[in-house]
Amino acid sequence: MPRTRFLGTGLAVPDRVVTNDDLSQMMDTTDEWIRTRTGIQERRWVREGETGVDLALAATRRALEMADLSASAIDAIVYATSTPDHFAPGNGVFLQRAMGVGTIPAIDIRTQCSGFVYGLSVADAWVRTGQYRRVLVVGAEVQSTGMLMTTEGRNVSVIFADGAGAAVVGPADREDRGILAFDLHSEGAHAEKLWVDSPGSMYHPRVSSEHIEAGRQYLDMDGKEVFRHAVVRMPESVRAVLGASGHTTADLKLLVAHQANLRIAEMMQRTLCLRDDQIYNNIMFYGNTTAATIPIALDECVRSGRIEEGDLIVLTAFGSGFLWGSAAVVW
Ligand code: UT7
Repeated sequence: MPRTRFLGTGLAVPDRVVTNDDLSQMMDTTDEWIRTRTGIQERRWVREGETGVDLALAATRRALEMADLSASAIDAIVYATSTPDHFAPGNGVFLQRAMGVGTIPAIDIRTQCSGFVYGLSVADAWVRTGQYRRVLVVGAEVQSTGMLMTTEGRNVSVIFADGAGAAVVGPADREDRGILAFDLHSEGAHAEKLWVDSPGSMYHPRVSSEHIEAGRQYLDMDGKEVFRHAVVRMPESVRAVLGASGHTTADLKLLVAHQANLRIAEMMQRTLCLRDDQIYNNIMFYGNTTAATIPIALDECVRSGRIEEGDLIVLTAFGSGFLWGSAAVVW
């Protein structure tokens, strides 16, 4: 069974840049607080009318271009997002329509910050079993329309942001290349520590004016608890996936981790005893784009030469669910 390899990557972010000073006009916060507590300097938010699927399509086009493939060469779409344009259907079908391709399968993955890693594992299984040959994996989010832009919501609204990353994967032509292993987990005991309560089908009606007045439609996070678990689970998962593929951190060229908070990345780096050149951070410029952070970072690393053919890399994520996981890849 051939392994699955990356054929192309792409990213797209809105052109609207929102600085920390911009946020301090909307809520009681400062550039200094945001930089020291999160590492974020600026982020991108969509303008009214710009959708997650628009960003996903732009990222997809760049990934196809790198792979030297046309849209019609894609056999299936895996779309990871926690912020779909609509409650139903999922964004996968809207992307299929926007791409103008035939009636290929399209599924949405609802595993939030871990969405790209989970989506990649689905694509990997499809490729290795021969069910689909070339699979598009997207991580795309529009968080800015679901955040409370006041002092009450500041622990969330200074962090989360909008963006998209895409990857085209397919069978590797060499035995020593491609995705080596996955490590995936969930722990629903912590589901309400980072969640959006409403709309939900358990409510009659799914969303009410009382919900809206209480702000239950906004992303809500117990930041300290999420932080505490993230700094343990991601290093644990990185070690597990390296172990499963017969490697150690000494063999690692680059760790491309979910961009949640620069302090989380720094603690993870220390726990894993990684050199600065073994970890990539770009949260400074994009904030936390949930399922999009990993494919955005991956694309930057590939285009800038931080990742080259034959390099061992690990992708790792942790977030809402809690859900977390990693993938080990020889590029
Ligand atoms: O995507 C994966 C999931 N997300 C994450 O992994 C995020 C994990 N959590 C975090 O990154 C951090 O917990 C935060 C950045 C959200 C918060 O940082 P913290 O160091 O845990 O701050 P805190 O919540 O303990 O708040 C410290 C103080 C509080 O004031 P008092 O009670 O000490 O007076 C907060 O009210 O900072 C205040 N605060 C702010 N001040 C200015 C909270 N948010 C802000 C803000 N600006 N934006």
